[in-house]
Amino acid sequence: MHSYTYYHKLIEEALVPQLASLGEIPEKIFKAAAYSLDAGGKRLRPVLLLASCELCGGNLEAALPYACAVEMIHTYSLIHDDLPALDNDDERRHRPSCHVAFGEDMAILAGDGLLSAAGELMFREALRLPDSRGAKAGYALMKRAGICGMVAGQTLDVTLEGQEVQEANVRYIHEHKTADLITGAVKAGMYLAGCPDADVAYGTAFGRHLGLAFQMVDDLLDVVGDSAVLGKKTGLDAEAGKQTWIALRGIDGTRDDIQSETKAAIEAIAHFGEDAVFFTSLAQDMTGRVQ
Ligand code: IPE
Ligand code: IPE
Ligand code: MG
Ligand code: MG
Ligand code: MG
Repeated sequence: MHSYTYYHKLIEEALVPQLASLGEIPEKIFKAAAYSLDAGGKRLRPVLLLASCELCGGNLEAALPYACAVEMIHTYSLIHDDLPALDNDDERRHRPSCHVAFGEDMAILAGDGLLSAAGELMFREALRLPDSRGAKAGYALMKRAGICGMVAGQTLDVTLEGQEVQEANVRYIHEHKTADLITGAVKAGMYLAGCPDADVAYGTAFGRHLGLAFQMVDDLLDVVGDSAVLGKKTGLDAEAGKQTWIALRGIDGTRDDIQSETKAAIEAIAHFGEDAVFFTSLAQDMTGRVQ
């Protein structure tokens, strides 16, 4: 196992070159996509993918295109999430949002481009691998990113704005818009290492609990966070009448639930023994994150 910083560096260095490696990309769309992709961010999902692969004895070389793919999917989701038709947020990753910098047309296409680039990269790598593990990893990731996963969560997030907050809805939104892609990253990393399904199930449980806690912290930071540190606006959830964990449980209740979901995540990953310590400290660090 390596450190968060090590995985983070690998991803930072690979993201834009992986995109460029797909072929000739018109300058306008390449600039818009690279602007958002190369703007920093925690890189949580690709770090989890690489670490999960190593946890199960896999090698990082084959996992790197998949790690870049999950970050491309995540970045597309942020570009589209910020559009005026969705959250209408003009700041992201300490920069003007993609649509502010390049116009709505380019932001929509940059999102489309990053999502399809992710699929292209994973298929390309899967064809190089000697067995079906690349296809299995790609399927797990696209399933969680897809219309039954992240997109389903985003759909309820935007369509239930302004309605009375209900626990089932908040839970559904958190599980799908955020926990699904995090779970997909863990599963993909494990499948790439050839990990058996019975063990992957522990990774799935870890991803789900970590993902729930992660979105709870995101909702909390929208209320108590510092937008200069976060690199995005705060206070938008209440303004839009979003179904958030804060609206459901308040600040103290949310803090309690972050702790219990984190504990559940740590219990699930403990199945992997000593190497799980990477995931345990990551989960703990995420509870106190400020950006
Ligand atoms: C923000 O994700 C959107 C959510 C799903 C909560 P991150 O908090 O991971 O954003 P970056 O990638 O670090 O910018
Ligand atoms: C975004 O959730 C989730 C996805 C992009 C899939 P939020 O709308 O809460 O994320 P932020 O707060 O804008 O980063
Ligand atoms: Mg949103
Ligand atoms: Mg948003
Ligand atoms: Mg948010």
